[in-house]
Amino acid sequence: MMPITATLIAELFAHAARSPSAHNTQPWIPHFAPATTPASPAEVHVAVDPARTLPVGDPNSQDLHLAMGCWVESFTIAAAEVGIDVIIGSVRGRGPALEIRLLLTALPDQPGASDLWPNFTSADLQHRQVDRGPLRRAEEPFATAFAAAERALAASGMASVEGTALVEVPHHLWETSLARATRYSYSHADIFTETLEWLRFDRRATSYAEDGLSADCLQIPRPLAAVAARLNTATLRPWIGGLTSAALAPVEFVDSLRATVVRRTSRDRGSPAQASTDGSAPLHHLVLVKDATASSAGGDSLARQDIELGRNLLRTWLLLDQHDLRVDVHSEIKDCPQTRSAVSDYLLNDHGLHAVPVAAFSVGRSTTAVPRSSRRPVEPIHS
Ligand SMILES: Cc1cc2nc3c(=O)[nH]c(=O)nc-3n(C[C@H](O)[C@H](O)[C@H](O)COP(=O)(O)O)c2cc1C
Repeated sequence: MMPITATLIAELFAHAARSPSAHNTQPWIPHFAPATTPASPAEVHVAVDPARTLPVGDPNSQDLHLAMGCWVESFTIAAAEVGIDVIIGSVRGRGPALEIRLLLTALPDQPGASDLWPNFTSADLQHRQVDRGPLRRAEEPFATAFAAAERALAASGMASVEGTALVEVPHHLWETSLARATRYSYSHADIFTETLEWLRFDRRATSYAEDGLSADCLQIPRPLAAVAARLNTATLRPWIGGLTSAALAPVEFVDSLRATVVRRTSRDRGSPAQASTDGSAPLHHLVLVKDATASSAGGDSLARQDIELGRNLLRTWLLLDQHDLRVDVHSEIKDCPQTRSAVSDYLLNDHGLHAVPVAAFSVGRSTTAVPRSSRRPVEPIHS
């Protein structure tokens, strides 16, 4: 049996740190609590760093809870690989006050992180990446991975969050929603300004290699990034946010008038495989959804549900990655009220699901090298 030492836990924390989080905020603060008696389990307590949350763009802390779920799943996968079983002991609070207690047990045989999903490894955690560059539609691997994820989610949904499903969204609905949701984010000065705080353009700054969305990851050409670095300062940010939203406000108004029309006609427009605007085959687009009634659950239990959803989101991305598929995430589609409700209408009308999207992403094969996202260094653990 593998002894649960501080050194081992620090290694597991380093693997878990590769977890995805909105804007790469990395909101988790893990803490190791060694077993106090031979009979009691070692524990890991995970809290939230309030400075690493997105109070404007993520007011209900849903993305925060999803990211915390991704971290728990990553830690569980890395621990399973070295023969340590991890279960959630408790989830208390929500948002910045969230606290997760994990109970660790060293087992004689290597446990699987989950018997419904493939046995992912720390190599899978290191390999997974979000790709914002051009993706290519890949039919067969997508069909295989999608079917496997659907099966695992249906089975794990019963054990964790009822009504969890992965649903493909037709290309025309995706494109319309994405255009509209993008304008929504830009036209709200406070959301835009908060996003700017997490963009990293200056390669010389320490934060460039630690957190946020770097110019490399966003695939912004170097000369443009250099200009952006000069503009994206704490003093100028509110001005840039304000000016952008003022310029886009009229567009936002026209959009809201159009929204009903888009929704009314979305069912009648073509198949998911119709050609995209640039002539290439369109990508597959997926939403992870939960039962709409689950959203009305109270604070702590809602946080727990979203943590389970975050675990399933990471498993889905890892499964796609095992089939050499990457994701391009567009949370704005589930954040913008109009596009969220357009997707919910589609789920109800075409799939009979009373559901809301909690994550939205396109899937395809990378066509260019994907720059590696940054992470904060993992603190040494003193036992
Ligand atoms: C809950 C959640 C929401 C996210 N939303 C977006 C998004 O809207 N747009 C985007 O480009 N990336 C999004 N991401 C991806 C993160 O930006 C990404 O995980 C982070 O930058 C680290 O990069 P990596 O996943 O390639 O390691 C999201 C990730 C999570 C977990």
